[in-house]
Amino acid sequence: MANPSPRRSLPLLSVPRTGVRDPMTCRFRCGNNCAHEIANTSDNPYFGDILTAALSRRGALRAGVLGGMVVSFGATALATPAAAQAADPGHKGPGGGHGPGHGKGHAHGRLGFTPVGPNTKDALVVPEGYESAVVVRWGDPVLPDAPAFDFDNQTAEAQAKQFGYNCDFVSLFPLGRDRALLWVNHEYTDENLMFRGYTDGESATEEQIKIALAAHGGSIVELRRVGRSGRWELVTTGRRRYNRRITAETEMRFTGPAAGSDLLKTAADPTGRRVRGMLNNCAGGVTPWGTVLTCEENFNQYFVGGNGVPEANKPALNRYGVSTTQAVPSGNRRFDRVDERFDLSKHPNEINRFGWVVEIDPFDPDSVPVKHTALGRFAHEGATTTLAKDGRVVVYSGDDGRFEYIYKFVSKGRFRRGDDRHNRRLLEEGTLYVARFTGDSPKGEIDGSGRLPRDGAFDGHGEWIPLVSGDRSFVPGMSAAEVLVFTRLAADKVGATKMDRPEDIERNPVTGAVYAALTNNSNRTPAQADEANPRAYNKHGHVLEIVEQGNDAGATRFRWSVPLVCGDPADPSTYFAGYDKSKVSPISCPDNLAFDGDGNLWIATDGNALGSNDGLFAMPVSGPERGRVRQFLTVPRGAETCGPLITEDGLSVFVAVQHPGEISGATPDSPASRWPDGDQPRPSVAVVWHRRGKKIGS
Ligand code: FEO
Ligand code: CA
Ligand code: CA
Repeated sequence: MANPSPRRSLPLLSVPRTGVRDPMTCRFRCGNNCAHEIANTSDNPYFGDILTAALSRRGALRAGVLGGMVVSFGATALATPAAAQAADPGHKGPGGGHGPGHGKGHAHGRLGFTPVGPNTKDALVVPEGYESAVVVRWGDPVLPDAPAFDFDNQTAEAQAKQFGYNCDFVSLFPLGRDRALLWVNHEYTDENLMFRGYTDGESATEEQIKIALAAHGGSIVELRRVGRSGRWELVTTGRRRYNRRITAETEMRFTGPAAGSDLLKTAADPTGRRVRGMLNNCAGGVTPWGTVLTCEENFNQYFVGGNGVPEANKPALNRYGVSTTQAVPSGNRRFDRVDERFDLSKHPNEINRFGWVVEIDPFDPDSVPVKHTALGRFAHEGATTTLAKDGRVVVYSGDDGRFEYIYKFVSKGRFRRGDDRHNRRLLEEGTLYVARFTGDSPKGEIDGSGRLPRDGAFDGHGEWIPLVSGDRSFVPGMSAAEVLVFTRLAADKVGATKMDRPEDIERNPVTGAVYAALTNNSNRTPAQADEANPRAYNKHGHVLEIVEQGNDAGATRFRWSVPLVCGDPADPSTYFAGYDKSKVSPISCPDNLAFDGDGNLWIATDGNALGSNDGLFAMPVSGPERGRVRQFLTVPRGAETCGPLITEDGLSVFVAVQHPGEISGATPDSPASRWPDGDQPRPSVAVVWHRRGKKIGS
């Protein structure tokens, strides 16, 4: 279908998870990744071991930062005027001080809400003065001919037309002023909560397995604003021409240098150019040309038969967290019982066709989603798009695993405003980089306790190491296609820095600095602590701030610092950018990030290891309030907070409440949560607004 719609984003700053995660979440979301051996057994050094002449370069790099105009991601590729003012040669960050962009005339966020306290309520709790409503929940009709949700009589056919399970990334695209399209990822299914009497994939009915396949993927639904408020609701009548379900069965195609390679060919697709479905789509991003990027994360858990693959395939499978000793890993959903492509002993390449960034056009329900091989294959948490100063498209992406890496793709071609045909091919060719972080303090001062080194900051410089550019590999012994399909193995060889589970990465629309959430890594020992991952047994995670050289997202060098080391502020291993810890909210396991229009960082958590519910927090990253973390909302029992998305008008925040009630022992007959409707828990997207129309958080 042609696309006559206005292809620009809502006036929004779109954008978009463990610690003590419940064992049920571990089983269903990640296939018990954390119970397995660390997938990264490379002897790639921790950076404390490769400390180099950091200090000598520091001055030169610092002089160049924050020089220019930021072009924000978001479908309007909005140039933010404030960014031009953000340049402040006197700024102290990264590395403490007041952070990047602390300068005269710079709009620091004015956050004025009363924080929500830690709690374990089975409710979405918002601050005084705010209201919330569910926008769309698991099972709500998406396609106009979808049947009403019936928990005890669910079918795969119905599910394929209804809102899927476990919503994660959300983005919003305008349809005029008071209408919009909402894109939502459906990361995974929790069969224990979806079906009465479910025990495992072995005894599941085939219909249950097919329902699960249909509950993965994503949804596009039309919303309308309620009056002039910040409240949005689902459009439930009329044609809803854009509404669409994407599932684990939707036809997709590959682009980029690995498309058509032998590594992607299977019996069903001898061309290596077409694939059915997407799996475990966690976070994502939006492009400046108005499409969604949705990211396949823990795809490894859906396959069986890893013990039956050719010996030559085993090292790569192990590196991607697939057992090569068991026929059926415990907790497996057994998708292979309805579709043998999930059996690696029969179709060893099928798994290579998952783990990609997928681009989808929300304005064209007939469009074929595209998996972009140029962006590499790993457990992509998200994909945040921005522009380099010269107009090339830059995509940041974390690989969510313990000791995994942070990546960046830079397109070969440049963004051309209004030229969709051209822009839509920009992610097909470019350079894929992996990050190396080097600290500027002596190794002896980074002891894993979280104690700051003598220079007062966990900070240093870094570089983006090229892995592959178009058809050219920079990794000895690997072809371009091999680098893209086995990106983890390639990154192991070039000295990338092993991080504490890199999750969401976002760019501040005001200052241009880039922020990465590092959820946690309780496996890091004191000897493995380094300045960018400075706390051993890191249960609560931290946030990294990256300022690219020249504030240019296309740069290959950067400076970085750690403004936030999470936890209970009474815990001496925590750090809130130097802010008075008696005035901050406890925070644990940062996962998804977003910015408001004033450049405040919003942090959603997954796996709160402090014993209370997960939530959404706001933290200024500039000015005197830098580091002042305040909790804005909490989600119901067992849930994690996803999204989040703050609309550009600042009036609404959307959060995806993922896996409410996912607590071991819970079943449909004994639910741990009854949110949102007092019945079975249903993963849902909710919107929060201020009763008197104030901007979120103000
Ligand atoms: Fe799906 Fe990394 O959270
Ligand atoms: Ca996440
Ligand atoms: Ca330092």
